[in-house]
This record gives sequence, structure tokens and C-alpha cells, in this order.
Amino acid sequence: MFSSLFLLLGALAAISSVRGQSVIVPGAHWTDTSGNAIQAHGAGIFKVGNTFYWVGEDKSHNSALFKAVSCYSSTDLVKWSRNNDALTPIANTMISTNNIVERPKVIFNSKNQEYVMWFHSDSSNYGAAMVGVATAKSPCGPYTYKSSWKPLGADSRDEGLFQDDDGTSDKVSLRTAYLLYASDNNQNFKITRLDDNYYNVTTTASQLNGATLEAPGIVKRNGVYWLLASHTSGWAPNPNKAFHATSLSGSWSSEADIATESVRTWYSQNAYDLPLGSNAIYMGDRWRSDLLGSSTYIWYPLDFSSGSPQLIHADVWSVNLAAGTWSVASGTTYEAEKGTRSGSSTLLSDSSFSGGQAVGYLGNGGSVSITVQGRGAAQWVALYFANGDSSWRNTTVSVNGGSPVWVDQPSTGGGHVIISVPVQLNLNSGSNTITFSAGQSNYAADLDKIIVY
Ligand SMILES: *[C@@H]1O[C@H](CO)[C@@H](O)[C@H](O)[C@H]1NC(C)=O
Ligand SMILES: *[C@@H]1O[C@H](CO)[C@@H](O)[C@H](O)[C@H]1NC(C)=O
Repeated sequence: MFSSLFLLLGALAAISSVRGQSVIVPGAHWTDTSGNAIQAHGAGIFKVGNTFYWVGEDKSHNSALFKAVSCYSSTDLVKWSRNNDALTPIANTMISTNNIVERPKVIFNSKNQEYVMWFHSDSSNYGAAMVGVATAKSPCGPYTYKSSWKPLGADSRDEGLFQDDDGTSDKVSLRTAYLLYASDNNQNFKITRLDDNYYNVTTTASQLNGATLEAPGIVKRNGVYWLLASHTSGWAPNPNKAFHATSLSGSWSSEADIATESVRTWYSQNAYDLPLGSNAIYMGDRWRSDLLGSSTYIWYPLDFSSGSPQLIHADVWSVNLAAGTWSVASGTTYEAEKGTRSGSSTLLSDSSFSGGQAVGYLGNGGSVSITVQGRGAAQWVALYFANGDSSWRNTTVSVNGGSPVWVDQPSTGGGHVIISVPVQLNLNSGSNTITFSAGQSNYAADLDKIIVY
């Protein structure tokens, strides 16, 4: 049952790429051009000519231990092809299958004409707290591992790289680059300059004492450096923050929200921040700690127009790379409380629900059916829900009485915090009945509304 559902989801994803839709759907199960799940968590993105490369952690074995740094390429940020793995385990080194390799980031060193990868290099209990470096002559390598060590003798866990433009648009001369990292048992956050080879760190430009920051990225907009980072809460999400400064030596502003705090960055953690026009794209991970390989990617436009970057929550959106802009798809909203309830499902009232109401006690005999209009196509449908448990829930979704698909519903934390997850469904042209949570013996999350795109 489980595998046939996954085949079904795979087939639907394929239909969408055949149809040529170039949309980004945060939190969906993204597949590559061969139809396989994209395994590139803790992303690092870099561009060579017109091609974007995405290196990340292959967690298809559902373990934190090192399997591979995968390498994907794309010219549109939507259709990704998997290339050879960029880095693979080497027995009896810090990058063996018994160790941790996380958050790979790559920059090009023009002096040596080579690509340099930095990553968080650690032991299985995260006690070693090192960085690792590997180099290659081509974007996906394979990379040659150099070593792992503690930069300037201190801890380094979650890290990122930032390559400055050095005030010019000249891409040829050597650009100053920095390691951004959680140091000193994750208490202090450091920004440390790299040497001319990008093989080692030299001097610390900034140290944010007691900042407890992880998952860093920097984008430079109009001469201002914006540091994006999460705080420390393990695999669970927290409200990621933005800091700014006009020099990498600081001084840094106090932290600012990039989204309403309660949604915990829409259940995600920053991995990489890619400039787009005068704005950027936030690229985060929605970690699923009990099934790491099923962790999804949460990419949203990061809008700088207010002067302080804000995530644009978008279920379905697209990017225009040439123009440096994005557009958010609009859909039709259907309130769950207007649907037909069955069994033990109940109406819940709370001002945090859209329309003031949601449907609860779904699953274990409770279900709700909502009538929606379709286009006769594979369409994205976003489920807006609240799951007050600390663990994930899920719901079955069935169209016009067909076989159900399962949709995961992450914890949304205490209270009635609402987030959304997408599912792609084949809808008939005209009226369709979508039934939620029928035939499941566990409770689904409270369903607030759905949006059909
Ligand atoms: C980095 O530089 C430090 C200080 O100069 C040195 O002790 C260390 O061995 C270097 N590490 C690597 C990996 O080159
Ligand atoms: C749905 O969630 C329950 C826990 O609430 C879990 O036991 C079950 O395996 C999940 N089903 C699927 C298909 O993911």
C-alpha cells in the first residue's frame, strides 16, 4: 500500500513536469528529472554560467550519518538533474560512514581555478565539531577531501560560506570569502575570513557572543550584509532571524523576524539564501527527524522591499530569473467547516482559524468532504491545518472516492498555529469531492481550509 502510494505520487510529479509547469511547491516531495526524490538537504547553491548547482546531504538511508554529498544541476531552479555525487565516504577518516557531513557549501576560487567545498564535519555524537574542506576542478567533482579540523582551534558546527563581491562586479579577481559558523558549543557565532586558497580560516571578522545561532547564510543587498540564521533547537524548527551590518566586521543589528514567530519559519530551518534581483530566495529544510530522508525543502521568496527581509508564504510560486522577480500563484479557498462532516468529526471555533472555525477529530472515524471546482488536471492543493502535538500527524486525501494518498502534517506547536502542506491531485473538470481523513485509525490534524491551485 505504502509503496504504491509513493509510485502514484511519483507519477503525478512526472505529469507535472511533462506539463511543463515551472513552479516551486515548498514542502512537496520534490523529484529530480529521473523521477527520484531529491536528496540534497542542508543545501549549498552556486552558479556556473547559466547553470545552478545544488549540493546537499543525501539522507535517503534515513540516518544522520554520512552517505554522500549529492550534486544536482538546473537552469531554472525547478527541474533538477542529479549528477555524480560530489563527495563520498572514505573509510577511517572524518568523512567515513560513521561520521557526520552536513551543510556542504561550494565557492569557486579564481586563483587556483578550483571549486572549494566546506562542510560541517563531525563525529556521530556531534562531539568533534569541525569543518571539512574538499576541492574539485569541476562543479560536481568528485571532490578530493583535504582534511577536517577545528578552525582557529575552536568548535565549528552548523556553517555556511559567504563570498563577497568586494565592492565590484568583477567576477574574475579573487573574492574575499568567509566561513560563518556556530562555535564554542554553539554559544558564539563567528564570521572568519578565508585564506587566498579558501583552504583555511585566517582572522575572525565578527563574533556574536551568546547568539546561539545555527544554519547561517548571508546575502548582500545594496551594500548591506544580511545574516539569516536559526537559533538552536535540534531538528525542531524555531523562528529564524535576520541581522544586518554594513561591514562583515559589524557592528550587527539586533535580530529581526523574517516571519511571524509562531509559525516557526513555516516549520523550516535556513540552509541557503540566494540573491534574486534586489531580493532573495530563502532555501530551508523542513527536517523530519524520525524519517530524515523524507525531510522536504521549504523555499520562499525573501522580500526586502520593507527594508527588513520577510518570507513570502506561497504554496505555489514561480521565479523569473531573467527579471529577478517571482510570482505567487493564486488559488481558490474552501473552508473546511463548510464541508460535509461524517462520523466523530467536530467543528472547532477559534479566532486563529480562517473564518473562525476548523474541523477537528478527523481520523478514527471522523472525516470531512469538501466540494471543489477542478480544471481536469493534476493540481496542487494546499491543506491548512493545526497540529498541536509535538509529533507529526497525517491525513488521507481521496478524490471522488478514489484511492487515498497520505499527506504528512508536521507539528505546528502549541495553540492553534496554522501552516500548510501541499498535495498534487488529479481533479476532474468541474465539481470534485475531496475527502479528508477517511479510513485512518490515527487522528489527523485539525483542518482549517484548503486552497486549490
Ligand atoms: C589552519 O591554520 C592554522 C593556523 O595557521 C594551522 O595551525 C592549521 O594547521 C591550518 N589548518 C589547515 C587544515 O590547513
Ligand atoms: C500516519 O501517522 C501515524 C502516526 O500518527 C503513523 O503511525 C503512520 O505510519 C502514518 N502513516 C503514513 C502512511 O505515513
